[in-house]
Amino acid sequence: MNRVFVDTERIRFETAPDLYGLFFEEINRGGDGGLYPEMLRNRSFEDSLVPEGCKAIVREDGTEAIRNENGWSCPFHNGEGKTEWAHRVPPTPVPAWYVQDARMELNAKVRLNEKRRVSLHVHFEPHGRLWNIGCCGVPCRRGESYAFYAFLKTEEPCELRVSLAGSKGIRYDTWNIMVEKGPFVRYDCILEATEEDYDAVLLIEAPLGGEVYIGFTSLMPTETYKNHGLRKDLMELLAGANARFLRFPGGCVVEGFTKETMLRFSNTVGPVWERPSHYLMWHYRSTNGLGFHEFLQMCEDLGLEAMYVMNAGISCQVRGPVFAEGKELDAWLQEAMDAVSYATAPVGTKWGELRARMGHPAPFSLKYIEIGNENMGPEYSRHYRKFYQALKHRYPDIIYISNTHTEEEGLVTEVVDEHYYDTPEFFAEDRRRFEAYNRKGPKIFIGEYEAFQGNGVATLHAALCEAMFLFGAEKNQDVVTLSTYAPLLQHVEYTSWYPNLIVFDNHRSYGIPSYHMLSLLGANRGKYVVESRVETSKLRYVPSGLPGLGSTVPGLRFRNANCHGEPVEVKRFLQNMAVREGEGYLTAVDPSAPPMKPFPGKPDSSKNCFLIFDAPAGREDVFEVEVMAEEGQGVFLTVFNRAEQAYIFTQEHHGGEVWNHRTVRNSQWRIQDGISTVIDQCIWGDRPLAQPEPCMLTPGKWHTLRTEAAPGGFLAFVDGRLLHHAQQTAVPLIDSVAAIEEKMIYIKLLNMGDERETVEITLDCMVEDTYEKIVLTADNPMAVNAFETPERVSPVTMDCNGAAKVFCCDLPAHSLSVLRLSAKQNVRENGMPFVMTANQRNTYGRLSG
Ligand code: AHR
Repeated sequence: MNRVFVDTERIRFETAPDLYGLFFEEINRGGDGGLYPEMLRNRSFEDSLVPEGCKAIVREDGTEAIRNENGWSCPFHNGEGKTEWAHRVPPTPVPAWYVQDARMELNAKVRLNEKRRVSLHVHFEPHGRLWNIGCCGVPCRRGESYAFYAFLKTEEPCELRVSLAGSKGIRYDTWNIMVEKGPFVRYDCILEATEEDYDAVLLIEAPLGGEVYIGFTSLMPTETYKNHGLRKDLMELLAGANARFLRFPGGCVVEGFTKETMLRFSNTVGPVWERPSHYLMWHYRSTNGLGFHEFLQMCEDLGLEAMYVMNAGISCQVRGPVFAEGKELDAWLQEAMDAVSYATAPVGTKWGELRARMGHPAPFSLKYIEIGNENMGPEYSRHYRKFYQALKHRYPDIIYISNTHTEEEGLVTEVVDEHYYDTPEFFAEDRRRFEAYNRKGPKIFIGEYEAFQGNGVATLHAALCEAMFLFGAEKNQDVVTLSTYAPLLQHVEYTSWYPNLIVFDNHRSYGIPSYHMLSLLGANRGKYVVESRVETSKLRYVPSGLPGLGSTVPGLRFRNANCHGEPVEVKRFLQNMAVREGEGYLTAVDPSAPPMKPFPGKPDSSKNCFLIFDAPAGREDVFEVEVMAEEGQGVFLTVFNRAEQAYIFTQEHHGGEVWNHRTVRNSQWRIQDGISTVIDQCIWGDRPLAQPEPCMLTPGKWHTLRTEAAPGGFLAFVDGRLLHHAQQTAVPLIDSVAAIEEKMIYIKLLNMGDERETVEITLDCMVEDTYEKIVLTADNPMAVNAFETPERVSPVTMDCNGAAKVFCCDLPAHSLSVLRLSAKQNVRENGMPFVMTANQRNTYGRLSG
């Protein structure tokens, strides 16, 4: 029998009010063309310009790509972005724009203003036409209206006809413009859709022919959330997330991947046509319509606290960093100061005036600032110190967040942002992580997390595993005070990251199971976390997938790889390569791999080799390979056997072929320097799965490594001798966390098993017989939501009775349940003295001299 004991009298600490938040980053076209519902793609005509600070290259496989000066590269395809996005659309020199009986070209001399880099020069024949296909179709809803504008310039008067048009040429609404000779002039109109057509285009025709320059253009729905310009269905989903704050605008986009692409707030305020566009590492250019002002407005409209992430004078450290120093660093600090001024300074000041001109004279609230994103190392600590001191001095009431544990270097650190991307199972297995954190140290912000590796992400199973991790956070709210799932939004046709909390196309949207899980946790907070205890059984997740092999330095020989004695071939090299040698292979450095600087603070792994074997399905559980290390090589081996065969082909999810070690769960068997270890390689360090054992691989001699699946883990043999019985970390079948607020008792329960479970709940107080039970589950742990079945995994509320001091409650297999019980009297009367210990108080750091 599973048992849960809840002691409402034993208060542990107050719940952290802002524990659950949202994190927006411009990724997957989540902003421009998504939440910011611009219907025209490439409205500034700048998409095909090679990003600032990069070179256009052609990769060996023929892919048109860009490369920054540090060697980081990604597909570009004339600005269409990822290869699969480019292949989906007919080729055109100006992405998303097409002509018939007309010519178009970019013009870098005739520009709308100094922030625009080009205009589109169009020469129309009589009846010539120009059209834009939007983000996989311009979406029209019957009866809805759309605001169009364009800045146009011509040498001779030119008559244009602007229409919303169906793909077969039917015009749903048309407006005629007479463009007069002279400088750029803005022309506006409202177009109404007479048909439902999500694959329409914006059509511009010149019945008599002529020439025009288009400086900038836009088409937006007239109806938006609270009339503040953002897409209604997406904002409604965000409102339904029951979050308390919004982290924006990134993420890696804050950092950029060159000096020029480091994000400046000042480029994202003012009239949108005067905001420079910005190429993102997520494979597209944003016109920054969703800028600093719009985020602050969005926070106000959704009742969220604002958390602004500012560039700390460092570009993305995994894409070859640029560090600003001296005057350049001062300029970045000034940029940060200006951002805070824009949000909070009164009208009459430079930034307050601009904010008022943008429609918000009153200051916005700005509660949190994060100094940098995912920055690290000595440079970061130095920059953090400078930024923190200056900002805290000028804006002492703001709460500041550091990217690393800068307190360990003696720096004042209020909150530390930790990021977790791993397998679903990692999250469940790591549920107790925060128990060990220093109660006197900084608060913890789980600033980015999600189950994104291995099998079964974006499923009910993943949401439940994440929930178990978050139960761990809730039980440690004296330390963990903030958290945000990442990323937030995904236009399904422009996936650059998977999974994402909310999925949409140009007219539909839904939340993945994790969205509903978070919304449920966010809606049932309570005021105090109380003592609770669970008695239950344990389970262990044993992953499956393809076997693999690796070495830290080239020169490892291997041969005779087999599963159950059947030979298996190398399927794919994931890092560097191996060359054929005699009857086997020799690992080697791939000379065509682009040079990359080592990750700060980490050993240089550029010479590591990783490969996977092509095992027949269902036969991967017994794997064997012979290996030979070289004299004095210090080789270590990585056998992703049984535990780590989760190398999966993820075309369906990522919209592209993804075969790399980030899509696996890195449990490893390592033999290095005479020691053999079996570990789960987790984002914050290794988790041992068995005792380390001495093991010497004799240089120049063949050794046989073998792994076999075993209950709860796997066995590892060297030359027929059993060295380890690796055991995956155990997870409780039932988990629980409880909180109270006046008469309400919130008991959150997880059933991670395949069977319905009965739980006996014991309370220390009398409760009303009737209670509410809200359950998130589905018929299958691998269930996902989709456009056709958006609510397959979504909470169901039931009115129940039978609650008592001791009562039983059924939990469906694979479920998250929230019980909302009502005590017969206040479990903690209002006004009753409640004394927190010093550690429990919100002890945000103060600036020390
Ligand atoms: O959430 C996607 C990316 O993951 C973020 O941009 C970055 O901070 C992290 O590496």
